[in-house]
Amino acid sequence: MISTLLLSLSLLSLARGQNVGTNTAESHPQLRSQTCTKSGGCSTQSTSVVLDSNWRWLHNNGGSTNCYTGNAWDSTLCPDPTTCAKNCALDGADYPGTYGITSTGDALTLKFVTKGPYSTNIGSRVYLMASDTQYKMFQLKNKEFTFDVDVSNLPCGLNGALYFVEMDADGGMSKYPSNKAGAKYGTGYCDAQCPHDIKFINGEANLLDWTPSGSDKNAGSGRYGTCCQEMDVWEANSMATAYTPHPCTVSGPTRCEGTQCGDGSDRHNGICDKDGCDFNSYRMGNQTFYGKGATVNTNSKFTVVTQFITADNTATGALKEIRRLYVQNGKVIQNSKSNIAGMSAYDSVTENFCAAQKTAFGDTNDFKAKGGFTNMGNALQKGMVLALSIWDDHAAQMLWLDSSYPLDKDPSQPGVARGACATTSGKPSDVESQSPNASVTFSNIKFGDIGSTYSS
Ligand SMILES: *[C@@H]1O[C@H](CO)[C@@H](O)[C@H](O)[C@H]1NC(C)=O
Ligand SMILES: *[C@@H]1O[C@H](CO)[C@@H](O)[C@H](O)[C@H]1NC(C)=O
Repeated sequence: MISTLLLSLSLLSLARGQNVGTNTAESHPQLRSQTCTKSGGCSTQSTSVVLDSNWRWLHNNGGSTNCYTGNAWDSTLCPDPTTCAKNCALDGADYPGTYGITSTGDALTLKFVTKGPYSTNIGSRVYLMASDTQYKMFQLKNKEFTFDVDVSNLPCGLNGALYFVEMDADGGMSKYPSNKAGAKYGTGYCDAQCPHDIKFINGEANLLDWTPSGSDKNAGSGRYGTCCQEMDVWEANSMATAYTPHPCTVSGPTRCEGTQCGDGSDRHNGICDKDGCDFNSYRMGNQTFYGKGATVNTNSKFTVVTQFITADNTATGALKEIRRLYVQNGKVIQNSKSNIAGMSAYDSVTENFCAAQKTAFGDTNDFKAKGGFTNMGNALQKGMVLALSIWDDHAAQMLWLDSSYPLDKDPSQPGVARGACATTSGKPSDVESQSPNASVTFSNIKFGDIGSTYSS
């Protein structure tokens, strides 16, 4: 019975071509969203989500032998990047059972740790899809993006993120024909940190110089990183939040190597602005605006509105300002105003805000160096993919979001304190063992004309 099944599966996958596994059928969880106009109101879109390929079971074509186990490549199936891409297939995902990803109607819940039948899964990242094979592309200039979020079950050290990255709509399939899986299997990720932990970049396995992570038994890093512009609309837990544009000097997904990746002491020598220009209300001087029982009360659900304002109020004008407001219990809450010595009060992200913030905090203005609003605006106009994720931070314990950071600076110095979490919080081994059931729920996604996606 089992051998018959395996035989028929392998025939099926040979007939279909390489790189897609068929042990589990890929079925994208439905997640309704809405498109809105000022004149016509909102209409429902039948969108869905897809799990990123990095989380998927990677095995030999037509079979079930792992190409990658834990944080190591199989040297027989994967002797080099192109042979590995030919030999290995990404399989379909059991979204709730293996990954703790569930959706109902317009709501998506991502659970932090999921003990499945074969593995323990930590965190996840999904993308919104327009069809079974294409990511939905958002052109955000002169538009507004709105969603509801429940972060009440997200403690210090976790991040429930909603953001846009400049990925290709087909996951890179047409540019790189050796990628036979494409967006349907969540390929083609890139972001402004130029991550090295991505297993396939440009249709090749990233196995050269692969170094297993010292602290993450599921991850490693390869020679190449994959960079692209990133607009972090929402990085948050119940204690702190930030929204942050990260421009790059390149357009679209770009494989990096060496200095270009901006690793370590090359942080500001790479092609992307890894720091970004962040607006975090706590860091900007209001410690009672966001949190448990605060003005924006993270004990219950609220609405987050982000507006991408252009100079001439058209979809092709120059990006001028990224504004934020919240709605909770039927009340519109304006963003907090910055309250930092030597800096005027700002309540949104603009070129002037970024310059003033970097000066006040003594930070390098890499945002400006990497093209600032011009380059970010170009990406927003071209179209970006919506990513939703839950993650813990093996590099910096999420202290840059919710605690005092960097650790060698005095927390009373402007810009160092970002949230009320302890500097000892957020260690992955602690949060994974103490808060495995943490989760974030995103719902009611709306996109459209400024002022069309929310009401009080
Ligand atoms: C923080 O924001 C709230 C709500 O806008 C406001 O009432 C309060 O005065 C602000 N606090 C500071 C220190 O700016
Ligand atoms: C997480 O949830 C499971 C299932 O409901 C429960 O058995 C377990 O005790 C919970 N773990 C923690 C640390 O709360």
